[in-house]
Amino acid sequence: MSEHALDLPFRPRRLRQNANLREMMAESDLRLRQLVQGHFLVPGSDREEPIATMPGISRLSADRLVVQAERDLESGVRAVMLFGVPQDKDEQASGAFDPDGEVPQAVRLLKTAFGDDLCVLTDVCLCPYTSHGHCGFVEGTTIVNDASVHALAQMALVLAEAGADFVCPSDMMDGRIGVIRSALDSHGWTNTGLLAYSAKYASAYYGPFRDAAASSPGFGDRRSYQMDFRNAREALREVQLDLNEGADIVMVKPALAYLDILRAVAEVSTVPVAAYNVSGEYAMLKLAAREGFGHEQDLILETLGAMRRAGADLIVTYHASQVAANSWLS
Ligand code: PBG
Ligand code: ZN
Repeated sequence: MSEHALDLPFRPRRLRQNANLREMMAESDLRLRQLVQGHFLVPGSDREEPIATMPGISRLSADRLVVQAERDLESGVRAVMLFGVPQDKDEQASGAFDPDGEVPQAVRLLKTAFGDDLCVLTDVCLCPYTSHGHCGFVEGTTIVNDASVHALAQMALVLAEAGADFVCPSDMMDGRIGVIRSALDSHGWTNTGLLAYSAKYASAYYGPFRDAAASSPGFGDRRSYQMDFRNAREALREVQLDLNEGADIVMVKPALAYLDILRAVAEVSTVPVAAYNVSGEYAMLKLAAREGFGHEQDLILETLGAMRRAGADLIVTYHASQVAANSWLS
């Protein structure tokens, strides 16, 4: 024994000494099947417009989305989350209820082309369609709850009718999960799933998304409906309510600065838990890598891997296509 040898009861490094052992001992695994790629839909055809604040992501017309989704599907991306970027906006969010809008059209094309091989999730919110950019209707400077909930249910019906596998309310109005569930059921859409953005915080990390979707609020902010980042208990309350109202999947958003919330939700949820790796988180990594401040693949896999470790069963992310195309995950 070397004169320097310490008398240690246990040496944690023993389990890390070679790659094979590290593979054997890894507690969590991130898999391609857990990733959902986010897409921004514009009306018309043959459109592909790069989003300045989200390097590598473009606003796509439905026909271009089908091409991209086919390529992604071949490399293993099985699910997409769609957001509308409509041409016209008004007080009443009329575009949100248009069966010929960019999102319902894209859903129909995707489901016709890929059927069950591609799971199509659609965001449900009024903000891309309202002239004031809020997620619900406005009276004076108040964002009204109950009338907004009925409108969201109407939007969800249009998406269900187009063939969406999951409708995903991101508005944070009270009671919307239950009302949407009964609207779907009473119209025969009992197999359409509900992914609830349950614990959604008012966050500066949504900046690039609002640029991409031109959905910034025209006055005020979203703090009267999205959650306060200082609170954790409230997240469990929101999740409980959504579970009671019939959510099939609950989501925590954003993800990276909220891994504690993700873990707490994963511990109590009786349904699968999703994490939303939002636009600002995406942009941070892309810019850091572009500037040479970090290794892109390692940054992305560590970040998504941490969300998995914290308890995410699914991760909505803008990195999915790139991860799949480069075979970074299986
Ligand atoms: C719409 C919605 C937003 C995001 C998803 N759905 C923006 C917001 O609430 O302001 C953010 C997603 C992202 O930043 O990637 N309510
Ligand atoms: Zn919204």
